[in-house]
Amino acid sequence: ENEGPRICGLPLKYVSLVTLAVQNAALSIVMHYSRVSIPADQAYSPATAVFLNELLKGGISFIVALFRVLQASDATGRGVVGIWAAYRQVSREILSNDCWKLSIPALLYVIQNSLQFVAVSNLPVATFQVTYQMKILTTAAFSVALLRKRLTPTKWLALFFLAIGVAIVQIQSISIDANHEHKNDVGNEQSAPHYIHVMSPLKGFGAVTAACFTSGLAGVYFEMVLKGSKADLWVRNVQLSLFSLIPAALPIFWESQSPHTPMAIFSGLFQNFGGWAWATVSIQVLGGLITALVIKYSDNIMKGFATSLSIVLSFLASIVLFGFRITPSFVAGSITVLLATWMYNQPPGKELAAINKVMPS
Ligand code: C5P
Repeated sequence: ENEGPRICGLPLKYVSLVTLAVQNAALSIVMHYSRVSIPADQAYSPATAVFLNELLKGGISFIVALFRVLQASDATGRGVVGIWAAYRQVSREILSNDCWKLSIPALLYVIQNSLQFVAVSNLPVATFQVTYQMKILTTAAFSVALLRKRLTPTKWLALFFLAIGVAIVQIQSISIDANHEHKNDVGNEQSAPHYIHVMSPLKGFGAVTAACFTSGLAGVYFEMVLKGSKADLWVRNVQLSLFSLIPAALPIFWESQSPHTPMAIFSGLFQNFGGWAWATVSIQVLGGLITALVIKYSDNIMKGFATSLSIVLSFLASIVLFGFRITPSFVAGSITVLLATWMYNQPPGKELAAINKVMPS
């Protein structure tokens, strides 16, 4: 089986899936901390974060696209093109006739990235992570509807197990999270109440549910555009970011205090934008780039498995870092998630043989 390009000798397909799992775990924790650990009157603007995310991701993708043109010209030996010629070629590719196709996922992702901030600021980390996994099912549904993907009964069963596994891990991580948040409340008793970030679970759940739909639709739409033409992944990423910049800039403009002078907008933009905010944006940028690779070399459904594994990973990290105890339900849930992942990846028609091999009767 052709597994595509390799990085450091390992298939890029698997490296990107594993990296995405680690990135997802890190993002929920850092993003949550960056929002709730800071007094409300010192919070940074999520609109700035969403905008910067697109700007940086687009810039990095542009540089990668440029290098790929330079490298390709080097490999063919037909005279190495200069950086300026490469720049013109990439720009031409970006402004191609079908670039408008990216406007749809671009808008959806900006909405999703903004909803994610609402969700993460109003729910405990584990609750957010787990409810966000509903996107596995929306993604599968959109893959079937838009990409005409046919899932065998075994694959649907694997998705079902994945949801169950995640739910089992959830049951206990939520109770630990609740204790944890409660302890924080007690610790914060001395502070003035209006300084504490107040979470509103209903708002959080609403945001997470909407984000699951945009995630499924945008991801599958991007996959459809990417796999429906020969255009380079990095060029597609730049197109996506360019279209995102417009809707991402609107809230910044609205939030800025009048008069809407460039100076007023700029000074409002980076207000309270400290280390944690930059860390959140950096992890998001990394996530966007890896997501694109995962969609290209695997697909959106596989991406769902990677993020489910991230729940298991982040919980393992909590055990090591914060001394959480391993409980039977964590072990059972994790095993279910791992088994579902393995089951989903069995070649069609071979599932039974593989199951028999592992569990001889
Ligand atoms: O939660 P989900 O996996 O749907 O999130 C996808 C994330 O990846 C979004 O934040 C989106 O902005 C980003 N993305 C990207 N470039 C792509 C595809 C997704 O930055 N080509």
